[in-house]
Amino acid sequence: MPSLQFPLQESLYAEHLSVLQRGYERVLEQHGYACAVVLSGQPLRKSMADDQYWPLRITPHFAHWLPLQSPGCALVVQAGQRPRLLWWQCADFWEGPPEPASLLWREHLTVETYTDAEHLLRQLPRPAALWLGDDRELATLGDPDPDAERRLRAVRDLDELRVHKTPYEVECLVHANARAAAGHQRVRLAFASGDCSELDLHLQYLLATSQDDPETPYKNIVALGHHAATLHHVAYGKRPGQAQSLLLDAGATFLGYHADITRTWIKGDGAAADVFRALIDGVERLQLALCDGATAGRNYQDLHDQAHLHIGVLLRDLGIVHSSAEESVAKEVTFALFPHGLGHSLGLQTHDVACARIRPRADNPYLRTTRLIEPGMALTVEPGVYFIDALLQPLRHGPQAALLNWPLLQALAPFGGVRIEDDLIIGSGPQGLRNLTREVLPQGGGAA
Ligand code: GLY
Ligand code: MN
Ligand code: MN
Repeated sequence: MPSLQFPLQESLYAEHLSVLQRGYERVLEQHGYACAVVLSGQPLRKSMADDQYWPLRITPHFAHWLPLQSPGCALVVQAGQRPRLLWWQCADFWEGPPEPASLLWREHLTVETYTDAEHLLRQLPRPAALWLGDDRELATLGDPDPDAERRLRAVRDLDELRVHKTPYEVECLVHANARAAAGHQRVRLAFASGDCSELDLHLQYLLATSQDDPETPYKNIVALGHHAATLHHVAYGKRPGQAQSLLLDAGATFLGYHADITRTWIKGDGAAADVFRALIDGVERLQLALCDGATAGRNYQDLHDQAHLHIGVLLRDLGIVHSSAEESVAKEVTFALFPHGLGHSLGLQTHDVACARIRPRADNPYLRTTRLIEPGMALTVEPGVYFIDALLQPLRHGPQAALLNWPLLQALAPFGGVRIEDDLIIGSGPQGLRNLTREVLPQGGGAA
């Protein structure tokens, strides 16, 4: 696992900053702003009449410039000038910010520290500034642009700067994947070697990745047995059980960048377990084929459609459905078994911005990426097959009933479902594709 104290090559960060500076300058000029004021954010109070706060998640606009997990900071970006950081120093003896994971950014910015919020208000350039931050903070600190439409257009253009990753960002995603891989390996072994509860597995993952819960990019999904049919299962069981299957969707952060990885494992014997193992193997094969198909110039929505056809073939080959792949897709049988989108853009947010400006079609409402795949994008590919009662019941009582093998579905229900998810960097040709996850976790699932 990479040490968090180990800074990346400084030249990568310097190059990232200059790309960002040029991009901001272009957007500011285009929309008539003199500068941008990028706020890091403020912690959110957990409940009224209390002095407890949720751990701060830095605003992605700020994290795009530097990995400093500190509240109350502002970065001023202006054409022709070094970005100027106003770094709030906590003078409170109750609380303190975390140690910065890296200080490699210090030499590249003009840094001023302050302890007094009034100072910040005096220092910040108000007229003609594009303010970026979370809405609550902007409401108290910022100088709202009377032209809200202009501001929205500018923010959309800044979001575009996050779609194609710089080499520095790719390196952060590489390290985030390596960090997550250590957790996946630990949990796979723990699952194979004993009856752990979901909570045990979650805690082992945190330990192996050296992450506290709020540091993970999203709440780990740790689903034993039928819990995998709950797509976002985070209400961990606390008692060890006898489940034969495990779906683990868990990531890691590195300097603000997210990994998002899912693996599905099976152990033990039995006729249904054999079919489920074959299902994992089939999803593994089709997931790898879809990863290979994620090439520049293709629309991600086509890849999603192809995933449905592949899943239709697999379901028929395993005897789970009786219909052809085409009929299973047309009659929404594959949608009941694979109801989520094939994947999404990845970066400073697990579901990163600017990739679903075109709304997905009505028959794939949850797809988060609807644009052309382009070099430099970071995308996940995460097909799955699940036995979700709420989606299967309407088929059982509808015109599609004869298309499904209900006794087999019932036998498979205790396994919950399969998902296999990797993080890709799109290259300029088929050779350029990088599967960051397989570089560190070669197997997508199977026998634990
Ligand atoms: N872990 C959330 C997702 O895969 O999108
Ligand atoms: Mn994902
Ligand atoms: Mn995931």
